[in-house]
Amino acid sequence: MANTILIGAQWGDEGKGKIIDVLTAQRDIVVRSQGGNNAGHTVIHRGTTYILHLIPSGILRRGKVCVIGNGVVIDPVALVAEIEGLRKLGIAIGKNLLISDCAHLVLPYHRLLDEQRELGKGRAKIGTTKRGIGPAYGDKAARTGLRISDLMQPALFTKKLQAKVRENNSILQALGAQTVSFAEVNDAYLKAGATLRPFVVNTVVYLHRALQRGKEILFEGAQGTFLDIDHGTYPYVTSSNTTAGGACTGSGVPPHRMDCVLGVMKAYTTRVGEGALPTEDEDIAKMLHEMGREFGTTTGRARRCGWFDAVASRYAAMINGIDELAITNLDGLDAVDPIRICVGYRLHGKHLDVPPSDAAQLDACEPIYEEVRGWKTPTGAARKFSDLPLRARRYVRRLTELTGAKLRIVSVGPARAQTITL
Ligand code: GDP
Ligand code: IMO
Ligand code: MG
Repeated sequence: MANTILIGAQWGDEGKGKIIDVLTAQRDIVVRSQGGNNAGHTVIHRGTTYILHLIPSGILRRGKVCVIGNGVVIDPVALVAEIEGLRKLGIAIGKNLLISDCAHLVLPYHRLLDEQRELGKGRAKIGTTKRGIGPAYGDKAARTGLRISDLMQPALFTKKLQAKVRENNSILQALGAQTVSFAEVNDAYLKAGATLRPFVVNTVVYLHRALQRGKEILFEGAQGTFLDIDHGTYPYVTSSNTTAGGACTGSGVPPHRMDCVLGVMKAYTTRVGEGALPTEDEDIAKMLHEMGREFGTTTGRARRCGWFDAVASRYAAMINGIDELAITNLDGLDAVDPIRICVGYRLHGKHLDVPPSDAAQLDACEPIYEEVRGWKTPTGAARKFSDLPLRARRYVRRLTELTGAKLRIVSVGPARAQTITL
């Protein structure tokens, strides 16, 4: 599998963290290349739950190097808190973490602007994580952002910050919102910067040298295909390229060094935040929530849930060039019978087999379902594909056939051991 790009093939929270943790065992380096601490990746190991926001999920495996690449937006105060939190749980963080000097910073005014823009949109809000992600990437695209390299030069940082705080406070004031204190932000960020300094390098050079030495890299996607700024359900998306191409631009590793794209998808669909979800189903949501599942890792919000959507997964396979699939949370459907699979959309009497680009049109799409019989048997103890009930095997085979990629992994529970590799 060598250098593998792992991406979410749905709307995020597909179980990427768990699969990354499993696959890290056979890799040397894990790289995050986009997104910020809007991500929440869960790894459960030996009864402890670890939630990773900015640090790659490979950090739990000893001897592996984790890289936060140039395409990530970093809130340095949040990153320091995450490092300290992991250390308290007994995870050693030292030479195993590297941070790109080109990564952009998320500042407190980004978070306040994120919140204000959401308030201003009223019912048309995106339902962001309020981590300041959109405004931070906005500054990056406008070429007015501050980067980790600025933070590593305290006098320069302070000067640039002063101008940025002035500019953003006037915007916040005009919106009638709370403003930020330059002195407080400056102190907190310089303090965090000093803690992060030992980790900061040119990660592009590091990764290229590692590749020359034959090291194998796993690229950890954050969010999911339909939250991609270009290919997602715009404007109900995040602000980065969550699809496979983002792994190249966000790390500086060129496309021809990538060997495989692995798409992670749940055996059903979830989405947290606003925007179309054609297969949304209240009964499935109620059942999963009553099982204590499908609550957001970052914000605690209840995730919206629905049937598996093969129109979406086929499109995800196309955009990302998915070679292999990991299907997670199969056990979530253990009690469901019959099970529906969306195989097409109907829009104004027309049959569609790709999702429309317009958010309102996608919202108006009616799913066309095929129905299969459920297996009504717990699957959590299965360790081999042949351990799964016949109907469960048929179901995952059908999902992979409709998606058009090779089945590599089936996950039947959150723990490492609850993983079937084909
Ligand atoms: P990520 O953002 O893609 O890493 O996914 P999250 O961690 O936000 O959400 C996935 C949730 O599903 C977490 O609570 C995981 O522990 C859990 N999970 C992952 N795979 C499985 C699985 O196969 N079965 C069950 N029951 N839970 C799973
Ligand atoms: P992981 O990596 C699920 C969603 C938000 C909102 C939209 C924009 O854990 O899969 P943002 O704060 O990015 O501006 O919010 O994107 N969102 C996610 N949904 N999983 C995530 O990350 C998400 N990160 C952002 O809910 O709808
Ligand atoms: Mg998540």
